[in-house]
Amino acid sequence: MTVLVLALQLSVPLGLDAYIPTPETNPITRDMAFLGKRLFFDTALSRDRTVSCATCHQPDYAFADPHPRAIGLDGRKGPRRTPTILNRGYGKAFFWDGRAATLEDQVLGPIRNPDEMGMTVEAVLARIPNLTRDTLSRALATYVRTVLAGNSPYDRYIQGDKSALTAQQIAGLKLFRAKANCVACHVGPNLTDERFHNTGAGAAADHGRFTVTRHEEDRAAFKTPTLRQIAVRAPYMHDGSLRTLEEVIDFYDKAEPKPGLDPEIRPLHLTPQEKAALAAFLQSLSGVVKDGYE
Ligand code: HEC
Ligand code: HEC
Repeated sequence: MTVLVLALQLSVPLGLDAYIPTPETNPITRDMAFLGKRLFFDTALSRDRTVSCATCHQPDYAFADPHPRAIGLDGRKGPRRTPTILNRGYGKAFFWDGRAATLEDQVLGPIRNPDEMGMTVEAVLARIPNLTRDTLSRALATYVRTVLAGNSPYDRYIQGDKSALTAQQIAGLKLFRAKANCVACHVGPNLTDERFHNTGAGAAADHGRFTVTRHEEDRAAFKTPTLRQIAVRAPYMHDGSLRTLEEVIDFYDKAEPKPGLDPEIRPLHLTPQEKAALAAFLQSLSGVVKDGYE
């Protein structure tokens, strides 16, 4: 992997790092981003032509969707919630359990998944003239890299505009960084360490990262998601089991003991006022979302 400059106009107005890691074999170009966007919204990628990538990764829900679990072909429910694809160009491994190493690999997964689009790559190529498997995967991966979020009140605050956050949000940011310990995992410009943790979230028996590595310490560990645009994409967690940000905060505050819990997850003893401040801070992570080359 090398680091290439993504068109500056994409990044600078968002206040994000202008660099997005891109494989040498798939630099971001205008043509690939255009094609990728067309394919992303194209229902021809699903068997009965009813489902596109955007059926689940909906622009109106910050490229996630409002369902606790993903709904694909024939209304079939998948085992997990649709994660947002915002700023995934900065990702290191893909899916909740990190089973795909590159976006180029990842994007073919939903096409083949019987609960999602129920197709084969060959059948997609037969429907869309002049498309090759390589171009399909490179174009979709390129488009995903152009789906970016930034320029939130939080970004403006850390860049020096002290009026960008309210006093309550500033109190929430302090809690996020100290007493509430959120930065142990939600860290850096994209508010994620890109690692896997067992937070204890979720009722069902999903073994998460363990299924990929078979390491006992990865049991029920899931990838830390970005918190960008978090207020507009409820419900939360890999199985959508928490409906509101208030429920998320109560969940971390309680930290009910469970086997294999990450050591950074522990009871927080937040007061109602502190919980409200933390929720107000999470609202400040919503800014501008852009997709496509321009
Ligand atoms: C039926 C709903 C559905 C459709 C259709 C769908 N996705 Fe997803 N997407 C999901 C779910 C659910 C996951 C997480 C699955 C998991 O972790 O096992 C996911 C994960 C992803 C991720 C990884 C995000 C991350 O944080 O690691 C990317 C990127 C992505 N999808 C892109 C696409 C593209 C491109 C398409 C179209 C080819 C597509 N998706 C179609 C539901 C969907
Ligand atoms: C030990 C690491 C860790 C700590 C500490 C942590 N988180 Fe998380 N966070 C995660 C992981 C991992 C997930 C995904 C868990 C899942 O889906 O099962 C997550 C999910 C979330 C989500 C839902 C995101 C989504 O897209 O569904 C929110 C909101 C959130 N965390 C906020 C916080 C807040 C606020 C704090 C501090 C009180 C915090 N987190 C502390 C690792 C952590």
